[in-house]
Amino acid sequence: MPGKFITVEGGEGVGKSTNIRFISDWLAQQGIDHLCTREPGGTPCAEKIRELLLAHHEEELDATAELLLIFAARAQHLNRVIRPALESGRWVLCDRFTDATYAYQGGGRGIDRDNIALLENLVQGMLRPGMTLILDIDPELGMTRAARRGELDRFEREQAGFFDKVRSTYLELARATPDRYRVIDASAALDQVQRDIAAVLTELL
Ligand code: TMP
Repeated sequence: MPGKFITVEGGEGVGKSTNIRFISDWLAQQGIDHLCTREPGGTPCAEKIRELLLAHHEEELDATAELLLIFAARAQHLNRVIRPALESGRWVLCDRFTDATYAYQGGGRGIDRDNIALLENLVQGMLRPGMTLILDIDPELGMTRAARRGELDRFEREQAGFFDKVRSTYLELARATPDRYRVIDASAALDQVQRDIAAVLTELL
């Protein structure tokens, strides 16, 4: 692909939005034409699936149904937005991608990793992010920050044990493929976090 595909991951309250804005500004300063997008979501239909996934329902959402909805949104987003941008040479900066599925549905919900890999191959073919930044923080601190933002969504309402598994899955992924992942200590002061991120981006250039 002519464009580079960068994803940003982490648990709740790690500061993804602030740091994605920082990355986007940094890329713009280097004159890199890029697109900022997010998952689940990124197209009107995929954003509708996001609403369904994040809202509270009287009916409990089945874990496999949740997984399939996430990949349905991903197929739409990937084929209509991400792939065309990369093919045209634009970089894509995406707030979460399939690593979140391994962390939340695999680690958090306990879905078999092989089944996630099956859907990953079906939906993405060979396409994987070129670089993934994992913003890492103690989940307890992250949840305190997330709670300050207002009402909690369906994922944010999960118990502490769920977020411990999300975090450990992200760190396992990073250990298994160190070339692709960079783990950033997101509990540090914001200017330090952003210096660390800038160092990773410089390396990418
Ligand atoms: P956000 O709060 O970072 O916008 O993400 C929305 C929620 O969706 C977040 O709690 C994590 C969850 N999620 C999954 O469970 N699996 C996924 O594959 C993705 C992309 C997000």
